[in-house]
Amino acid sequence: MIVITGATGQLGRGVVERLLTRVPADLIGVSVRDASRAGDLARRGVRVRQGDFDDPASLAYAFEGATRVLIISGPADARPHRTAIEAATAAGAGRILYTSHMGANPASPFVPMPGHAETERDLRACGVPFTSLRNGFYATTAVHFVTQALETGRLVAPEDGPVSWTAHADLAEAAVVALTEESRLDGITPPLTGPESLDLADVAAIASDLTGREITRVTVSDDEWVARMTAHGAPEQQALFLLGMFEASRKGEFAEVAPALGELLGRKPAALRDVLAAALANR
Ligand SMILES: NC(=O)c1ccc[n+]([C@@H]2O[C@H](COP(=O)([O-])OP(=O)(O)OC[C@H]3O[C@@H](n4cnc5c(N)ncnc54)[C@H](OP(=O)(O)O)[C@@H]3O)[C@@H](O)[C@H]2O)c1
Repeated sequence: MIVITGATGQLGRGVVERLLTRVPADLIGVSVRDASRAGDLARRGVRVRQGDFDDPASLAYAFEGATRVLIISGPADARPHRTAIEAATAAGAGRILYTSHMGANPASPFVPMPGHAETERDLRACGVPFTSLRNGFYATTAVHFVTQALETGRLVAPEDGPVSWTAHADLAEAAVVALTEESRLDGITPPLTGPESLDLADVAAIASDLTGREITRVTVSDDEWVARMTAHGAPEQQALFLLGMFEASRKGEFAEVAPALGELLGRKPAALRDVLAAALANR
């Protein structure tokens, strides 16, 4: 049985839906924090069990009989994922898969990146074959910036750098390939990225073109941006967390465009323009 965590989240749900087109439902299990939110999957024959990274006993039950476990990353730190790796190992899984990030790096200023690097160390040490999917930066983040900018016509952010924005749907499909095609992915994958690297000025230009509304990219200092965020009610810790993302992008940590995702999918990954167009059409 293939067990997937985070199946009530966006990526995990996308993985399960695609997996159901390749594997019989009774060979799929999900480990979710709230089983009542996965009732439709249970009705379709998927095994639904409650599992929380903070509760090892729940994971022992949720991972029971798993041949493969896909751990969809949750919190930014490595500890909960270590618990999940230990539970998957104890359950006898023959492969553990994990959604890491293209920017996984102990020295990154963006907090989740050292966490992913630590989890990759845990995977290397766990003694079970593993696949660490180094996912590209979610295009949904760019969608979020654009949605906010449409309110004012200004995309206000600190200095940023190019990002190879990547669609959730493509990453979900890649995870299914990794779960079902044994020989394709082992160990830490190359970056699984979208087809081009775009900074926020590029994003604003695409959004202007798509909407017919002028969206101006406005660069503010880091301090001013944090002050603006907190003035709008964001906790300072959250503003500083997000600032780390801009600092890392400036250093080029999310800039690489790699062919691996396209090779896995057998087609070109979705461009940010297409993801934005679909998101704006649904507004
Ligand atoms: N590549 C990128 O650019 C990027 C950007 C942002 C985040 N991420 C990472 O990618 C992950 C998946 O993305 P997504 O869009 O699917 O996010 P999402 O919709 O927020 O889903 C996250 C999932 O993790 C589960 N989860 C959180 N804490 C958990 C815990 N203690 N035990 C078990 N499960 C837990 C959540 O459970 P519930 O459904 O019960 O809430 C949810 O299903 C994120 O969680 C994050 O680690 C990557």
